[in-house]
Amino acid sequence: MSAHNSLSSFPHRHLLGIEGLSRPDIVALLDMAEDYVALSRQVEKKKSTLRGRTQINLFFEPSTRTQSSFELAGKRLGADVMNMSVSSSSVKKGETLIDTAATLNAMRPDIIVVRHHAAGAVHLLSRKVDCSVVNAGDGQHEHPTQALLDALTIRRNKGRIEGLVITICGDIMHSRVARSNIILLQALGARVRVCGPRTLLPIGIERMGVEVHTDLKKALNGADIVMMLRLQRERMNGGFVPSSKEYFRYWGLDAEKLAFAKGDALVMHPGPMNRGVEISSEVADGAQSLIREQVEMGVAVRMAVMEALARNLPNH
Ligand code: CP
Repeated sequence: MSAHNSLSSFPHRHLLGIEGLSRPDIVALLDMAEDYVALSRQVEKKKSTLRGRTQINLFFEPSTRTQSSFELAGKRLGADVMNMSVSSSSVKKGETLIDTAATLNAMRPDIIVVRHHAAGAVHLLSRKVDCSVVNAGDGQHEHPTQALLDALTIRRNKGRIEGLVITICGDIMHSRVARSNIILLQALGARVRVCGPRTLLPIGIERMGVEVHTDLKKALNGADIVMMLRLQRERMNGGFVPSSKEYFRYWGLDAEKLAFAKGDALVMHPGPMNRGVEISSEVADGAQSLIREQVEMGVAVRMAVMEALARNLPNH
């Protein structure tokens, strides 16, 4: 069966999180994304899967990678794509999320891609519109397409996810990327470790089934994949780390600390990176880094997600 056929029964109207997806759902999306990696490497990159469909990108928070890759993904699938500029919209005049959703819904879009600073906002919006909704990151909750693109990147480089030791290090507390990755990577059989200063590890995180570390060298021992996260200062209320310099000394990844992981360990970062805070330039730009490849996989994964959802859209 081709990857595209294996998705014929993707039973979801929205993609709001990794939570709620089954292992077969995840594998089918990754298999389908493989086809889109190949398509995106050709000169002719377009398909007509979403021809006639309208996609609105509604980003209430800044984004470089996610918004641009959703735009490219929609255009490569033939959709009419509109990027709503929230900074110049009526949100600035006090319009609520629900009123914004109702207004956009009246224009009969087929897919709305939403990023919002509040956890749960995307779920709320999905209940107020008739179209499919994709979560492009909601507060500290989930960032499902980031986790899917990370999984695709790992699978392509390691040949599998099952049985790998994956260390996620940094600001776990404020990270929707960490949460979505923990759920997805464990669903595919990886052993996940989290590491960071105690102030940035949420209480009860071990209940998600992860190993918890505060010493980066111990967390890296035997790791196949090292995923670094930035300090999300925009979500911090007060001082969680003494200084960037001290943070880098203990939790920043440099070549010396990376040597504690397996010799063939690979390094990832969802971006945006703060060089010299959570990762050194030597590691970010080094031979073990997959950071640029993650960005490429983002377009393919988002094409797969939108095609899967489009199959469940009404045709009238
Ligand atoms: N990784 C990620 O979500 O990056 P952006 O904030 O640039 O979209």
